[in-house]
Amino acid sequence: MSNELYAVVGHPISHSKSPRIHSVFASQTGEPVEYTAIQAPLDGFAETVHRFFRKGGKGLNVTVPFKEQAWQLADQRADRAEKAGAANTLYLNDQGLLVADNTDGQGLVQDLSVNHGVQLKNARILILGAGGAVRGVLGPLLAQEPASLTIANRTEAKANALAALFADEAGTTQLSACGFDEPDQPFDVVINGTSASLQGDLPPLNAGIISADTVVYDMMYSLQTTTFNQWALDNGAVRVVDGLGMLVEQAAESFRIWRGVRPETIPVIEMLRND
Ligand code: ATR
Repeated sequence: MSNELYAVVGHPISHSKSPRIHSVFASQTGEPVEYTAIQAPLDGFAETVHRFFRKGGKGLNVTVPFKEQAWQLADQRADRAEKAGAANTLYLNDQGLLVADNTDGQGLVQDLSVNHGVQLKNARILILGAGGAVRGVLGPLLAQEPASLTIANRTEAKANALAALFADEAGTTQLSACGFDEPDQPFDVVINGTSASLQGDLPPLNAGIISADTVVYDMMYSLQTTTFNQWALDNGAVRVVDGLGMLVEQAAESFRIWRGVRPETIPVIEMLRND
């Protein structure tokens, strides 16, 4: 059987690990998948997507800065993508309609709960940031039924807006919003979803949010300990995790949507960690 074509679209795209991850998934599962990277012009995302599918492409991952455009472009959206306001996975359904999904939240939950054995049900969770990355994961986090989910952000109004948007998905979870300096008691799980540490800055947080039992998760990843995780370690954290597992898990969920087979993720996470 000849290979079927998949790709990741972004700008820039040369650093993307997705082609490597999906190539390993393909050889591991024996699926006839060829996966490339496409750099779309900043003003040419929609045209790039349409051209890809016109030429017979089967599925796309979408990354920065096009996730919101991917969401808007779709004819249909998976339920979990609807409130996320952004999509990282596109494909054509049986009727030829463009469907958008968002697997980022599932990737985070899978990495935390399965790969790292973190109990999310009834946990007290603090998530930092209120941009696209956080919006993308709030639905799947709330679905785990934590005791509380606190959204803290530099611009408090954006945290408030997100809490209001997801209020009807909160169920028994106490969902709230605040500025960075407000939380001062230990949480079970602290997740960094800001892009602050990319710029070398750290949010002005109280060290009291960390205890030796807190699991600290940075949605960013890097070869060294991330700036945020280092701050947590310096303030008493024992368990810190970066977002490499989330990256591989969101990819595996896209692969499952496209091919109906869920690849093994742990060997791929280990492979990338040892690169
Ligand atoms: P992304 O898609 O990565 O979420 P975004 O939508 O631009 O990108 O959101 C970036 C997030 O990081 C926001 O929560 C932003 O805070 P504001 O809403 O106050 O802008 C946060 N952020 C970025 N730089 C930061 C910094 N230096 N300190 C604290 N928070 C920062």
